[in-house]
Amino acid sequence: MHHPTLCALAVGVLSALPGAQAAIYTKSSPVLQVEAKDYDRLIAKSNYTSIVEFYAPWCGHCQNLKPAYEKAAKNLAGLANVAAIDCDDDANKPFCGSMGVKGFPTLKIVRPKKGGGKPMVEDYNGQRTASAIVEAVVQRINNNVVKLEDKNLDKFLSDKNDTAKAILFTDKGTTSALLKSIAIDFSDVITIGQARNKEAKTVQAFGVEKFPTLVLLPGGDAPGIVYDGELKKEALVKFLSQAGEPNPTSPPAKSKAAKKEKKDSKSSSSKTTTSETSSATTESQSETVKAPVIVETALPIPTINTPEKLIKECLTAKSHTCVLAFVPSSEDEKAKGALASLAELAFKYAQSKRHLFPFYEVPKSNEGAASLLKALDLSGDVEIIAINARRGWWRHYEATDFDHVSVESWIDAIRLSEGVKKKLPEGIVAISVEEPTPAATPEEAPEPTPDATESVSSEEATPVTPEPSSTDAAKETVEPDATQTTDPTAEPETAAETPIKHEEL
Ligand SMILES: *[C@@H]1O[C@H](CO)[C@@H](O)[C@H](O)[C@H]1NC(C)=O
Ligand SMILES: *[C@@H]1O[C@H](CO)[C@@H](O)[C@H](O)[C@H]1NC(C)=O
Repeated sequence: MHHPTLCALAVGVLSALPGAQAAIYTKSSPVLQVEAKDYDRLIAKSNYTSIVEFYAPWCGHCQNLKPAYEKAAKNLAGLANVAAIDCDDDANKPFCGSMGVKGFPTLKIVRPKKGGGKPMVEDYNGQRTASAIVEAVVQRINNNVVKLEDKNLDKFLSDKNDTAKAILFTDKGTTSALLKSIAIDFSDVITIGQARNKEAKTVQAFGVEKFPTLVLLPGGDAPGIVYDGELKKEALVKFLSQAGEPNPTSPPAKSKAAKKEKKDSKSSSSKTTTSETSSATTESQSETVKAPVIVETALPIPTINTPEKLIKECLTAKSHTCVLAFVPSSEDEKAKGALASLAELAFKYAQSKRHLFPFYEVPKSNEGAASLLKALDLSGDVEIIAINARRGWWRHYEATDFDHVSVESWIDAIRLSEGVKKKLPEGIVAISVEEPTPAATPEEAPEPTPDATESVSSEEATPVTPEPSSTDAAKETVEPDATQTTDPTAEPETAAETPIKHEEL
């Protein structure tokens, strides 16, 4: 098809580059290199729309396409798969043939069918520019976002009422590729809705005053949470992940962070939104719609309701540090303050992906709570303790104020192993009979070295390691404004460097 000298020249240039013969796109390219054997998994079964380039390394038009294609891949990162298959590779040849590829490059758009089944495949014959490619792909991203109007708000909220939901309030009439991609990430996990600013009842029901605003409804009776972090995919996914893990496959560039998050969500008690400074946080909701929402910044910390659970989580001979907030009821004013401080702190750690021991709310009506408090001789309305059954100590939060700063400095002291540890009275730790491991002797006796090192590194030593150091924590408290008061209405910074703004909400 091409002038023979062009091909010959291309071959010559490529041969001069070690290893370049095999593929046009390097490992670090934003273009996903796919082999025939991976096509099914990465493309055909993806929940994302993909564009696939079938190419041969020696083909000049393929080389010419590379810059535009890589640019398109960057623009579509997190929104769609941009892939390439080297049809010159013997392993891929039969597959390329079976896809009807007759010349290079051939571009095909692969769009998943809603509800599963074979994807739809169509040739892309448009211009070979980044913007034309991006537009064509974006138009074919499946839209699972529910259009939310005043008249269907009640239905939206009551449908699958135990499933988490998120609503984007926007002044735009169209749904962004970014929101569509998020709905794909969380399909069957979080129902994503979009409400326009003119849907007055809905807007009012959630007390939304600026656009865009994203509200997460974790499900059940849990209060809604307003997002006020960066309007970028990674941060948004992370925020939503507190209500449920995204589906496993995301386009390559953005999937790692989301996965890592999942692990964190298990170890720390709750993962929650952004800043404590949000003005939206304290707004109460109008009564016009029975929206399950009192907008707060942080997801509540988990509750321990039974003595069995208390033992399981915190009082076995193997239990690591737990922070327990004993409260008369979560409606109590003092309790509210204490629980909010803990929730915000847990959020802060989750945000920065740092390990922190779990926090639990323990209603005093829980019999386990009553006997533990009695054994520790605690009688205040609201009591917070840290307890490490494995090592046989506990600490009491002695300040009378449960504000954020005091609670945080107490937690910091625990992390740094500063301050007074008290010895746990006998009979509190549930010693497991079947497993007489060394850890089953948690009393103050000096521990054998290996065990000591192990438990030190797993908990209290965390602040000693360079990364989550106390200075780090201090910095965070000093400078929250710089990072946390990001105005969600501001344009994402990436917009400047990318002419195509599909990464915006
Ligand atoms: C949730 O849905 C179930 C059945 O679909 C219903 O029985 C229950 O009352 C609903 N709960 C709320 C809070 O609407
Ligand atoms: C695709 O979405 C479905 C839910 O609709 C989910 O169960 C599945 O895990 C997703 N697949 C991938 C590869 O993410």
